[in-house]
Amino acid sequence: MITISVNQALTQTAVGLEVRVRGWVRTFRSNRFIAINDGTTIHNIQAVVNFEQTDPELLKRITTGACIEVIGDLATSLGKGQSVEINVSALQILGDSDPEKYPFQPKKHSLEFLRENAHLRPRTSTFSAILRVRHALAFAVHKYFNDNGFYYMHTPIITGSDAEGAGEMFRVTALDAANPPKNEDGTVNFKEDFFEKETNLTVSGQLEAELGALALSKVYTFGPTFRAENSNTSRHLAEFWMIEPEVAFNDLDDNMMLSEDFLKYVINYAIKHCADDLEFLDKRFADEEKAKPQQQRSERGLLEQLNFVINNNFVRLSYTEAIDILKNSTPNKKKKFKYPIEGWGTDLQSEHERFLVEKHFKSPVILFDYPANIKAFYMRLNDDGKTVRAMDVLFPGIGEIIGGSQREERHDVLKRKMKEFDIAEEELWWYLETRQFGTCVHSGFGLGFERLVQFVTGMGNIRDVIPFPRTPGKAEF
Ligand code: 4AD
Ligand code: MG
Repeated sequence: MITISVNQALTQTAVGLEVRVRGWVRTFRSNRFIAINDGTTIHNIQAVVNFEQTDPELLKRITTGACIEVIGDLATSLGKGQSVEINVSALQILGDSDPEKYPFQPKKHSLEFLRENAHLRPRTSTFSAILRVRHALAFAVHKYFNDNGFYYMHTPIITGSDAEGAGEMFRVTALDAANPPKNEDGTVNFKEDFFEKETNLTVSGQLEAELGALALSKVYTFGPTFRAENSNTSRHLAEFWMIEPEVAFNDLDDNMMLSEDFLKYVINYAIKHCADDLEFLDKRFADEEKAKPQQQRSERGLLEQLNFVINNNFVRLSYTEAIDILKNSTPNKKKKFKYPIEGWGTDLQSEHERFLVEKHFKSPVILFDYPANIKAFYMRLNDDGKTVRAMDVLFPGIGEIIGGSQREERHDVLKRKMKEFDIAEEELWWYLETRQFGTCVHSGFGLGFERLVQFVTGMGNIRDVIPFPRTPGKAEF
């Protein structure tokens, strides 16, 4: 007898082989057919019990949610949708479940309901499929960079700087919140805090990744990042995972090429390695779309969309060209945008990004050369003196999936920009020093991992692609 997973059992052709399988009961029909799932595949294995020869008290304990072990021979299944089943010779309950209280019934539950039960939702088909796809994507990220000569660099999670300059940070302190030490002017004296300065959870590993790139040439970070922005949207989390490659000697064109190649690689990896899960999610996506009004429906099915993205070139468009398209667009003329496009210089909102990607080009778009004053201080200033070498990759259904830039490598220009952005030199002296000792052209970008998982799984809400989401007012589990 061998102990195997449900996935292994289902791909076994050795009919007659005696196996032991463990997992959780999805359904139990006719006192005879148990559907068991152990999370190794989207599919359940059917275990067939001989109820005449089984203790009725034991049968009663086979309920949805219970954890069981079955031993039996693999047999060719007569039921549709599966190749083999198990003819049970011995059955044991490993963990009982109260069917009255177990939150999930064998029927469709709303995503809100599943979120409230995030401790148990990995037991559902939808969520387990998402978790397996999420894993495959994370693995593909590391594989891509490793195969292309990048070094994985661990950047700090506690920092003293605000890399994005947006001020949306969670403070890290060991001071007594009720009675902190004070300065003479009444402000909190952080010199007495653990790090003897103000610290926060990082919003990005970029600044430290730059230090790595200026020594190891190609590095990437892949870690948790934190933003205290109070945006309750389907695209924002307070805690999310970000992938940030940083490459010495790359200019913005190289950076755009890297972002496109990288995205196509990881999406293709998921298509190849998560076929069953994506087939399931593709059907789910189609059902969700059917429930939407016609004009809100996506142009393509989920798998169709993934294949479109890996097989077509991303559109490249300067911010200035984008503004022209948007200004003359029908929704702008008909005043359909919540934020009308007045002219050059305005920041783009997600409604504008989605118009370009979903309606105008029907393709991923890389926007570049944004106005300097709406982007971060570290982006390289163009010769026109008013735009910077920034790039955003915009995806259908998602909007911004990547933000990046060529970095300002000129010491004098960087110092001037920091002054304009009101960033103290003492705070970033180490960042400035890299521009004094052997500076060079370099570029990088940040990919929001959950937005990528959303795109690949077709999930509309970012809270459904991370096991335990952190959002305003929510830090349960
Ligand atoms: O555009 P952002 O803010 O860029 C940076 O942080 C740069 N330091 C990256 C770099 O150049 N190394 O964020 C990058 C990406 C966004 O495009 C988005 O996909 C994701 O991170 N992101 C979020 N994802 C989920 N929740 C949030 N609150 C996010 N904020 C940004
Ligand atoms: Mg951005």
